[in-house]
Amino acid sequence: MYSDFTFSIIKPNAVRTGKTGPILALINESGFEIEALRMVRMTVAQAESFYSIHKGKSFFDGLIEFMTSGPVVVMILRHDNAVEEFRKLIGATDPSKAAPGTIRKIYAVSVQMNAVHGSDSAENAVREADFFFSGVERFH
Ligand code: RTP
Ligand code: MG
Repeated sequence: MYSDFTFSIIKPNAVRTGKTGPILALINESGFEIEALRMVRMTVAQAESFYSIHKGKSFFDGLIEFMTSGPVVVMILRHDNAVEEFRKLIGATDPSKAAPGTIRKIYAVSVQMNAVHGSDSAENAVREADFFFSGVERFH
């Protein structure tokens, strides 16, 4: 389904190692407009709620521990067909399978510490943007 915005997170490994600026630059240079942005450290309860679709999977506990290990940058990004276009820009979940030039190919260090999150559907983009941002923080 078409979406004109998506939701993204710069994950703790990338924030910790000073990659926030370069990743934001790449996102802007690729034609995405930043509509809303904030740095936040998630609690375990917040991370479990955000990732509730993955509950029960083998990687769930590790994912929650990782995503609460430090601050993350959460943002809403606008672009034509935003969900699909942003998934192309970030590349495959496993960085060894990500295409050259993608954010994960450049900045991921493992399947878990893969630098960025991008919504996987228009419905989830709405849910995830609403999870982190109130109406007054959004400018469109
Ligand atoms: P994301 O939600 O972060 O954009 O990533 P994705 O759609 O490409 O991958 P998804 O299947 O939704 O998995 C969410 C995140 O969980 C971690 N993961 N670890 N160790 C593993 O096998 C494993 N599999 C997934 C990654 O951080 C992945 O991005
Ligand atoms: Mg996902």
